[in-house]
Amino acid sequence: MSESKEHRNNIYRIRAEGVGLVYRSNHRKNGADSGDFRALRNVSLNVKEGEFLSLVGPSGCGKSTFLYILSGLRKLSEGAAWINETPITGPALDRGIIMQAYALFPWRTIRKNVEFGLEVKKLPKKERRATADRFIELVGLSEFADKYPYELSGGMKQRIAIARALAYDPDVLLMDEPFAAVDEQTRGLLHEELLRIWDKTNKTIIFVTHSIDESIFLADRVAVMSPCPGTIKAILDIDLPRPRTPEIKSDPKFGSYRNRVWQLLQNEGERTEEITSADGRKRLGAAPQEAVI
Ligand SMILES: Nc1ncnc2c1ncn2[C@@H]1O[C@H](COP(=O)(O)OP(=O)(O)O)[C@@H](O)[C@H]1O
Ligand SMILES: [Mg+2]
Repeated sequence: MSESKEHRNNIYRIRAEGVGLVYRSNHRKNGADSGDFRALRNVSLNVKEGEFLSLVGPSGCGKSTFLYILSGLRKLSEGAAWINETPITGPALDRGIIMQAYALFPWRTIRKNVEFGLEVKKLPKKERRATADRFIELVGLSEFADKYPYELSGGMKQRIAIARALAYDPDVLLMDEPFAAVDEQTRGLLHEELLRIWDKTNKTIIFVTHSIDESIFLADRVAVMSPCPGTIKAILDIDLPRPRTPEIKSDPKFGSYRNRVWQLLQNEGERTEEITSADGRKRLGAAPQEAVI
């Protein structure tokens, strides 16, 4: 993290206090609700300006639900949440959302996709175009500005989704497993690119993933979620130097963070895997190198 970034680092961009969410079922049995499902209980989290926080947890533990609440797309059932110290009441342009599916408009060119949020902001045409081109350049895809999404690879599309979210200058980026659908090598490149852009723009990021390595590699802090109902089990400070390069994954410190997150996730009773070793004794499964849960 650059020095100037640390100085700006003293206000909360995102706050959640005791957030709970129950998905209400439409089915009623004998007049009573049946099948209501509690997805989140008592989720509390503060994220500072310019901070990169990863949210890691098994599939179905409520990561996306929590992100939807922060984005304003879903109303919480309990507790409260704020962006820029303002209660979240619905979607707003102070936060950008980047989903796993690229969610680009297929009928628009790349430039027109990136201009979308700027149209909502009612920027004049010339300014829209200049801003879009600047962010397309930032993600290294200038020569594709006049192409359509189908002409781009998955990794390129996700870079455009990032450019589109950045173009209208939100303070906060909410990223939901954005690189899950791209190949391993492209993912590595996208990690480095995202960190470069983050350093340059001082955005506050929550990055949802189910990959332990990805969560540690990117973040200042890793929040570990446990399921049934989803809640934050622990938050770890990741004290690794920046800029981060792939070599850091073989650093013993990285390895100990990996084991710690793995243990936190393993401690879910139903998720604990027992392995019978040669001497017939049961032990817990060891964390694999690239631990994906
Ligand atoms: N619209 C919905 N109605 C009912 N249950 C839902 C709905 N969306 C998600 N869920 C359930 O809530 C839980 C959390 O889902 P989700 O937030 O998508 O988890 P994650 O992103 O961690 O995989 C899951 O058990 C899921 O089946
Ligand atoms: Mg999800």
